[in-house]
Amino acid sequence: MKSITILGIESSCDDTSAAIIQDRKILANIIANQDVHKNFGGVVPELASRAHQQNIIPVIESALKNANITKNQIDAIAFTRGPGLLGSLLVGCSFSKAFALGLNIPIIEINHLQAHILAHFIEGNNSTEKVPNFPFLCLTVSGGHTQILKVKDYFDIELIGQTIDDAAGEAFDKAAKILGLPYPGGPLIDKYAKEGNPNKFKFAIANLPNLDFSFSGLKTSFLYFVRDQIKLNENFIEENLNDLCASLQKTIIDTLLIKLKKAAKETGINQIAISGGVSANSGLRNTLLGEQENSGWKVFIPKFEYCTDNAAMVAIAGYFKYLKKDFAEMDVSPYSRNEWK
Ligand code: KG4
Ligand code: ZN
Repeated sequence: MKSITILGIESSCDDTSAAIIQDRKILANIIANQDVHKNFGGVVPELASRAHQQNIIPVIESALKNANITKNQIDAIAFTRGPGLLGSLLVGCSFSKAFALGLNIPIIEINHLQAHILAHFIEGNNSTEKVPNFPFLCLTVSGGHTQILKVKDYFDIELIGQTIDDAAGEAFDKAAKILGLPYPGGPLIDKYAKEGNPNKFKFAIANLPNLDFSFSGLKTSFLYFVRDQIKLNENFIEENLNDLCASLQKTIIDTLLIKLKKAAKETGINQIAISGGVSANSGLRNTLLGEQENSGWKVFIPKFEYCTDNAAMVAIAGYFKYLKKDFAEMDVSPYSRNEWK
């Protein structure tokens, strides 16, 4: 059978990314991060869409070059349709249409959250070279989402739990902002936490009765705690940065684990995957590996480059849709909120 070559494009938030996949093998995965948001404590949508406009052509040129293919070898273009920032999504969507029209090839629309999950099927994505069997549970934890999903097939995914307020990544980023760290704070908290004592400070875990999460209370209690301590000692943050990061990170991981264990018990599924930016967190990765021993779980952890936003995951999702000939019409437009079907 002839190989299928897909160009994947991701522009839902603040990373402009292009990837080339041939069947399930990634030939190139280029990501341009946007430094413009660093000092704002979060992504500024207007700046993000402008930066996508500037980055998209160079990123695609680099992807083609790295993959060592020409544009005429692409069979279809897969792009993130949503959810995300509308102005950012419009750049990837419009570019895909124009490029596909020029090349006379189909376009494929991809749900960003589905792409995070399907990243597990990229060839060689995890150290064991194994892919999860259906059904498996996936904890998707990113800057915008915290969900537990029952994945029954590539495109048959049931949402069984989610955050009712902030996402786990948001909890990391907001806490980092309180500590005076730049955006995105998650990777920095991860770094400082490695040197800290996770049991030094205790923060309450919100435990909702079902499989849902809540992180907004944690942010508030963290804010009040730090504020009160600063009144007593103005150097409190500097003197306790590592312990603060380790304790906060532990609270977030514990919160996630409680629900993941509950979901595994209720569904009887012991294949557990994680995805999304927060799945890059070393504490979460180690905790899950520990559960492999303790709970008999079979754990699937993506490579770092496929955790945070990337076009490789869009390309693999595009590959599976290409096999079904599930192409989008030229009047397709992005959606900002999730349209989970
Ligand atoms: O999936 P992603 O790149 O974008 C969204 O779809 O939101 O996730 C970004 C989120 C940010 O909140 C960032 O702080 C968090 O992932 N993140 C981390 C780590 N790396 C990225 N959080 C904790 N530890 C990390 N190592
Ligand atoms: Zn994402």
